Amino acid sequence: MRILSGIQPTNVPTLGNYLGAMRNFVKLQEEYKDADILVFVADLHSITIPKDKSELKKNIKNLAALYIAVGLDPKKTHIFIQSEVKEHSELSFILECNSYIGEMERMIQFKEKSVKQGQTVTTGLLTYPCLMAADILLYDSNYVPVGEDQKQHVELTRDLAIRFNNRFGETFTVPEPLIRKSGARIMSLQDPLHKMSKSDPNPKGCISLLDDINEAKNKIRRAVTDNLGVMAYDKENQPGLANLIDIYSLLEDINVPNILEKYKGLGYKEFKEDLAEIVGKTLEKIQTKYNEIINSKELDTILDEGREYATTLARKKINKVHKKMGLGRN
Ligand code: TYM
Repeated sequence: MRILSGIQPTNVPTLGNYLGAMRNFVKLQEEYKDADILVFVADLHSITIPKDKSELKKNIKNLAALYIAVGLDPKKTHIFIQSEVKEHSELSFILECNSYIGEMERMIQFKEKSVKQGQTVTTGLLTYPCLMAADILLYDSNYVPVGEDQKQHVELTRDLAIRFNNRFGETFTVPEPLIRKSGARIMSLQDPLHKMSKSDPNPKGCISLLDDINEAKNKIRRAVTDNLGVMAYDKENQPGLANLIDIYSLLEDINVPNILEKYKGLGYKEFKEDLAEIVGKTLEKIQTKYNEIINSKELDTILDEGREYATTLARKKINKVHKKMGLGRN
């Protein structure tokens, strides 16, 4: 059984990426001891919106180090950088030729991002789901752990795999998304109707895993809530508070009713203060490990090993695809 996922190195991962994705990779590592797990830095994905060269380089390395800092064990999980395994781009083009422009235009993320980009929207932003499908299908991945916002892309991947198999014969495993009920959509701390995002122009809405600890705590203290002043879990009328309760529940592994019981009759201030401490402790633990690994030789060795492992699998699959389609001479 194979599990695969990736994150874009666009800025530093957020608490949303951590709770919706990274933390689950670590849990899966423990839950599925026999599974083959691949986790990668999706650097090609991040250039769908042009990036500054030195920023990109830094973010790629940061993300790789953060994978280890949050608890991925390179003995159990293969960690690699997407652009270092050329077959991703190759299969992506092949899938572009087996998909339709209409399918790409229907993707919610394309619609949202292309509105923001206006005239400068790149072709890569449109074809991005084919690259994501290539990432998944290259390795015959059975399960793809992601947050809610990536579900549609995994569903498209399934459609593309089924279509290809029908057209050319059994080639790809049809993957399934793995989305946990809680944490799949962490919201902005300033605008709880929108998801917390690495590219949020308002830095107060989003906590990055490498934020200064005191700054991160302040972001929790100043998070938007409401005027009702009652500790309740009501996503419709108290979305800001519900989001904070979700974060608390996930980080402390306490269910929502127990949190409400604990803070019954108390104000938001006490609750936020405790949550600020919890978030601070979480970041501190991650950052300590990050600082140990970021400039180490070990990080390069892990990424070299990951690249070699992934390349062997990917090459085999691409050869199979070529044969099925009649590409090349063999
Ligand atoms: P990306 O980099 O936007 O996000 C990485 C992961 O974090 C999840 N996530 C969230 N979860 C909860 N709350 C949030 N506010 C939040 N924001 C982000 C995302 O759902 C995702 O799981 N295209 C992908 C990366 C990718 C990929 C892949 C994933 C490329 N190839 C193949 C899986 C398999 C992306 O842009 O994720």
